[in-house]
Amino acid sequence: MLLHLKSILTPEEILVARALLGEDAPWVDGRSSAGGQAVTQKQNHQLAQNSESAQQLRTTVLASVQRDPLFFSATLPKKIFNPLFNRYGGGANHYGAHVDGAVLRSQATQQWVRSDVSCTLFLSEPGEYEGGELVINDTFGERRVKLPAGDLVIYPGTSVHRVEPVTRGQRLASFFWIESMVRHDEQRRLLFDLDMNLLKLRERRGETAETTALTGCYHNLLRMWADT
Ligand code: NI
Repeated sequence: MLLHLKSILTPEEILVARALLGEDAPWVDGRSSAGGQAVTQKQNHQLAQNSESAQQLRTTVLASVQRDPLFFSATLPKKIFNPLFNRYGGGANHYGAHVDGAVLRSQATQQWVRSDVSCTLFLSEPGEYEGGELVINDTFGERRVKLPAGDLVIYPGTSVHRVEPVTRGQRLASFFWIESMVRHDEQRRLLFDLDMNLLKLRERRGETAETTALTGCYHNLLRMWADT
């Protein structure tokens, strides 16, 4: 499932993030955190994970996704890899086709996380740079994603994806992964659809015997599939 979540960050949070991700931020070569196949494809900069600004930004991003009910319903998070931050532009401006590592170890928390869901949170406005689309290939074909600052895209960790060369300006983003309580994408999708449609039914008709029973179905499916 590919899903666009709007306004995850407030305008104030975006401003603070942008200030912390300026030219004088502790940027390092993005290849320092890529695995075998991915390292040959990667040309960008990443914010040093142990820096104070990275710590502050991680806290902001984690708090922002956790207050969003759609994020919870769509990803059913068990563990969230500490958010990382990257910059594409100039001579380090793209990331060729790759699949993210299946299990990743966070330098900040020393925790292993299985990458069931990949997330990109855009921090630059689309008009600030040329190129830089996140291109995701999956069963739904190829999708080109370039979102307003503060918006998030979630997509299956199993997808081949790339970031197109940024030919003008700079593209700033945060990226991270989620190990979900529900490992399989199609099961998460069914639960999300059921949850969203129940929400609409309740808005239209209020609580009825049917919405109660279907909510029971939702929880009983979640009970069958969830691993906490
Ligand atoms: Ni990736």
